[in-house]
Amino acid sequence: MQLTKAQRERVESLLSQMTLEEKIGQMNLESPSIVGGFDVSFEELIEMVNDGRIPQEEFVKIMSTATRDFHEDDIRAGRVGAMMGDDPVKANELQKIAVEESRLGIPLMMGFDVIHGFRTVYPIAIAEAGSFEPDLFRRTASMAAKESRAHGVCWNFAPMVDVARDARWGRVSEGPGEDPYLASCFARAKIDGLQGDTSSKENYVAACLKHYVAYGACESGRDYNTTSMANSLLYNAYLPPFKAAVEEGAATVMASFNDLNGVPCTLNRFTLREILKQCWRFPGFVVSDANAIRECVVHGIAGDEPTAGVMAAQAGMDMDMGTEIYLNNLKQAVEDGRLDGAYIDEAVRRILSVKMWLGLFDNPYVPQTQIAANEVIPQSNLALALEAAEKSIVLLKNDDRVLPLDRSKKISLVGTLANKPEEVIGAWAMSWKPSDCVTILQGLKNSGAAVEYFPCGGPDAPVNEEEIAAAAAYGDVIVAVVGETVSMTGEASSKADISMPGEQREMLKKLLATGKPVVALLMNGRPMALDWEAEHLGTMVECWHLGIQMGNAVARVLLGDAAPQGRLASTFPRMTGQCPLYYNHPNTGRPGSKSKFTSRYLDAGFTELFPFGYGLSYTQFRYDGLCVADKGDYLAVSVGLTNTGERAGTETVQLYMQDVVGSIVRPVKELKGFEKVTLKAGESREVSLRLNKADMGFYNDRGEYLLEDGTFRIYAGGNSRDCLMQEITVNF
Ligand code: NOJ
Repeated sequence: MQLTKAQRERVESLLSQMTLEEKIGQMNLESPSIVGGFDVSFEELIEMVNDGRIPQEEFVKIMSTATRDFHEDDIRAGRVGAMMGDDPVKANELQKIAVEESRLGIPLMMGFDVIHGFRTVYPIAIAEAGSFEPDLFRRTASMAAKESRAHGVCWNFAPMVDVARDARWGRVSEGPGEDPYLASCFARAKIDGLQGDTSSKENYVAACLKHYVAYGACESGRDYNTTSMANSLLYNAYLPPFKAAVEEGAATVMASFNDLNGVPCTLNRFTLREILKQCWRFPGFVVSDANAIRECVVHGIAGDEPTAGVMAAQAGMDMDMGTEIYLNNLKQAVEDGRLDGAYIDEAVRRILSVKMWLGLFDNPYVPQTQIAANEVIPQSNLALALEAAEKSIVLLKNDDRVLPLDRSKKISLVGTLANKPEEVIGAWAMSWKPSDCVTILQGLKNSGAAVEYFPCGGPDAPVNEEEIAAAAAYGDVIVAVVGETVSMTGEASSKADISMPGEQREMLKKLLATGKPVVALLMNGRPMALDWEAEHLGTMVECWHLGIQMGNAVARVLLGDAAPQGRLASTFPRMTGQCPLYYNHPNTGRPGSKSKFTSRYLDAGFTELFPFGYGLSYTQFRYDGLCVADKGDYLAVSVGLTNTGERAGTETVQLYMQDVVGSIVRPVKELKGFEKVTLKAGESREVSLRLNKADMGFYNDRGEYLLEDGTFRIYAGGNSRDCLMQEITVNF
């Protein structure tokens, strides 16, 4: 986020003309309140849609009939700096008030939750991360930026880059998984996609990096719960994606709800002021999460709301989302001497700088021609949504090579998830239309396959034996779509049991008993505990929630028009009780093994079901000849890769390392690089990867980055478990 000298001067000039009230107004993010029968804020309402308390159709009904208060008078009086919403017509109306009727004409920032697409919804982040393709992460974000901007939204509350290692947490769906390296690649590419193309105002938005920080480490995977950890863990695992995104130029950051080591992140001076603003020199602004300043009183860190407001402002929180605590209290606090006015100036300078960079002062409106063009999704968007969906699908098991399906075979498609447009979307998508969604049933029909649909049961529907009998009678193969509804993941959707919900396991048992081959397609937003399923089903495909092109993508992969190439960005446990379970854990003195007095469970052992980085394809790959050479500043790693099967395929070659002896205990493996390689049947290639020595260190508890000489194990392979290994001594 670079401003020209003239832009910086314009910001300073505005600041010098502003009253204290107008400055505090800029620090206020409002959302339209729903007035009348349904007395909640817009913001609360969208959370209710997301957590499943009200269905999407009900939301649309409420929005079309409810009277909404858009705070026009407050905007006119300069008491609003930013507004939530996704309607371009309303955005223009409100912007006109801000620009033409407020004293200084400062435009509003319109913000919205555009997490994995606006109208063109693409795969949820945990799925897309599994494509291991930074350029894809960038392109989907760029598409979302353009669509958002065309709808008046210039501020996307994304990317969510919380490292998440506990599959019970519902929000694992929204982020790039358990690994700091992959999450950092994801974070950088998303910022580039959202913000990078500044050639025209229509092409970019301000990203909002969230949730800062350690939200994904909430205790026992329960949303909003406390987090506590050593600083070294914070620096090594949870901060890296945020740091990477700040280095890439992220314009704004959203603080998380959780407390970290006893201090809520909303008013955490250490994380906000010391790390983010001082150490990383973050030039943008920080916004609280919804209602979070008020919740600091509930946390028990501030005695009342005015004090919470003062503490947050002092800690470096620049904008208040949704409580009006800044609006109603900061002026008095400055006048009483409880808050130094310099904090306010700093916050407003940051906010105005982002608005200036967004070009809002010169070009605040969405053109009418654009609003009309929004009616139709461009073909190029559909193609990208399809590509992203295809590349996110993970083949987990294909024991009898049932896949790809033979086109001449009749398919009985089973499971209520297969035929519900709203289930392809995934948590935290708000601006989609049911008519755009391609279900798995629709996708198979589009492909021309011989398919009949038999609901038979689902996560919230009982088993129907008659339909199972009918499915068995029709199909040569049964394709069973099982998993979680969208409302079982996302915010406020943590679960204490992440095995197959409802009667779906019973349904699978009965389907298997028919004797027909059963292909299980999983639709879910978190790693699930599928020990039983993996033992009994020969064919399993992880399809996640893939967005509006889901059905077409799944059909293409099932029928072999596209080969599966996704990998898991999160470890799958065998049983829920193993959570948190992640591949890059510190070593213990008694690593899990077959013998009893080691780090293991009596009833679940010590291994995962599917490891991080795992995924099969329709062909097989062999690795050989791992070679690691010290080249001074870097290690040159090469490994032979051969496609030993009969079809072309794409492999994700993964590079891991272990620092064998460190001054603090190091992870058993850490991802340090990857490369996707496509090989024809029988083809071999030597794959070269580079590991910079500067990236082989770690942080201690004081936040110092250390490079310690010694022995390192270098691994290369197709997932975090099955690798070749070579040891090397490294001096820095
Ligand atoms: C709450 C969520 O935690 C956050 O991700 C979202 O951006 C805000 N609300 C705004 O809707």
